[in-house]
Amino acid sequence: MPKATTIKYPPGPLYKTRPFKIVREFLHDPIESIQEISNKYGDIAYFKLGRQHIYLINNPDYIEKVLVYGHRSFTKGKKLQVAKAILGEGLVTSEGDLHNRQRRIIQPIFHPKQVTVYGQIVTEFTNSMELRWENGETVDISKEMMQLTLGIICKSVLNYDVKSEAEDYSKALTTLRNHGKRLKSPLGHVLNKFPILPNVKGAREAKEKLDELVYGLIRQRREAIQSKINSYDDLLSRLLQAQDNGKSSSRGTTASAGTGSNFDSSSPGMSDKQARDEVMTIFIAGHETTANALTWTFYLLSQNPKIDAKLLDELKSVIGDAGTVAVEDIPKLEYTEKVLRESMRLFPPVWSMGRHVDSDFTLGDFTIPAGSSILMSQYVMHRNPRYYNEPNLFYPDRWNAKMRSSLPRFSYFPFGGGMRACIGESFAWMEGILVLAIIARRWKLRLVHGHPVELDPSITLRPKYGMKMKLERRD
Ligand code: HEM
Repeated sequence: MPKATTIKYPPGPLYKTRPFKIVREFLHDPIESIQEISNKYGDIAYFKLGRQHIYLINNPDYIEKVLVYGHRSFTKGKKLQVAKAILGEGLVTSEGDLHNRQRRIIQPIFHPKQVTVYGQIVTEFTNSMELRWENGETVDISKEMMQLTLGIICKSVLNYDVKSEAEDYSKALTTLRNHGKRLKSPLGHVLNKFPILPNVKGAREAKEKLDELVYGLIRQRREAIQSKINSYDDLLSRLLQAQDNGKSSSRGTTASAGTGSNFDSSSPGMSDKQARDEVMTIFIAGHETTANALTWTFYLLSQNPKIDAKLLDELKSVIGDAGTVAVEDIPKLEYTEKVLRESMRLFPPVWSMGRHVDSDFTLGDFTIPAGSSILMSQYVMHRNPRYYNEPNLFYPDRWNAKMRSSLPRFSYFPFGGGMRACIGESFAWMEGILVLAIIARRWKLRLVHGHPVELDPSITLRPKYGMKMKLERRD
């Protein structure tokens, strides 16, 4: 990094006199801190967090430059070390050639055409969840959605039915997530070396439980492939049979064949460890985000009865009284789509994204030196009054054709963008719309009186105390 005196920094909070103030503020309420800095300093702001030089980007064109046009200057950076402890070198955490190759292999599983095949799984699982529900019962809808989406992703991409174990696996994933949070604290890595501590022991057991499941599935599938009785075309089969031919993908990557250490040189496919990392990544990335989106949507509907009524009107006319909903109905569920879109505007499941600057990069009037970090927040951008009238209002009808065509591309980016854009976006829209339609057609969900609703902004945006809701069957 060049000498500090030669760098022209964008405006931003200095905190010179109280350097720990910003760290404390960030730990306490990162969203509020970012929101304040963005409001005060605009498109690009600079501040130091500990020894890190951070550039907060709050302009859609700049975000597009970072994610789409300049992606070669950035990596996801060291911050991912914590995630790597759980996910290994899967699609979310890997970089460079390994990432390009894995992405090429996995991409077809999430092709929009393939995704429609998964629609039936979504409706089946949602129907059987709501068959369990009782009129007047109180549930934590956040938990229900986590278990539902975990079941759906396991069945869709692994052809594995978690059934009654969904709760156990969901708990194991939550344990790992909480442990990941603790690892981020200054003493986290030191404490992690003491398996006698209950938290550390719990996290190791949770990881073992999930590893046991995934390695078990890998073993079974290898046997099926070897004895040529494998008839599945799911993620696991593709991963295990993958032979990267090194062709340039449509995304313009040029990874060469079989050079990565994660491909087993003695067999044509991927090593068990690499397959495990990819499966674990899809497990986690593919269920928690959608579950959060749905949870916040039900919360918003409970607070906005007129919108709930309008949604029900559409559902009645498209689905009818008793009929169930299918993928083919999705294009007709226009208002349902707007409700979900607006909910992810207000409560984006991934609320911020970071990048490490590998080589100097120019944005507007500033050159961001290598070694710095870039921060972009969906939460803050999605509530920017420059792009959204009354930005804090839940108003699905704002998403009309005129408004959509006038918005800059990266003023709404719940799924990120560019080379590292969400691979599961089509899946998430299909799943989100179908689950919302099925549940909202048959149930009205009321927030339990006095239940505290607060944000828990970790990697995803969860409700801090879950979301206790009373189920009322619609007639
Ligand atoms: C509402 C639901 C979802 C949201 C809001 C969401 C959001 C995102 C975002 C913002 C990123 C980019 C992160 C970055 O660039 O730093 C991402 C990446 C990713 N997402 Fe999603 N996601 C959702 C659902 C899913 C689903 C259903 C799957 C899989 C079935 C999935 C799998 C992934 C994977 C594997 C990546 C890493 C892609 C790469 O780096 O190549 N996501 N997601």
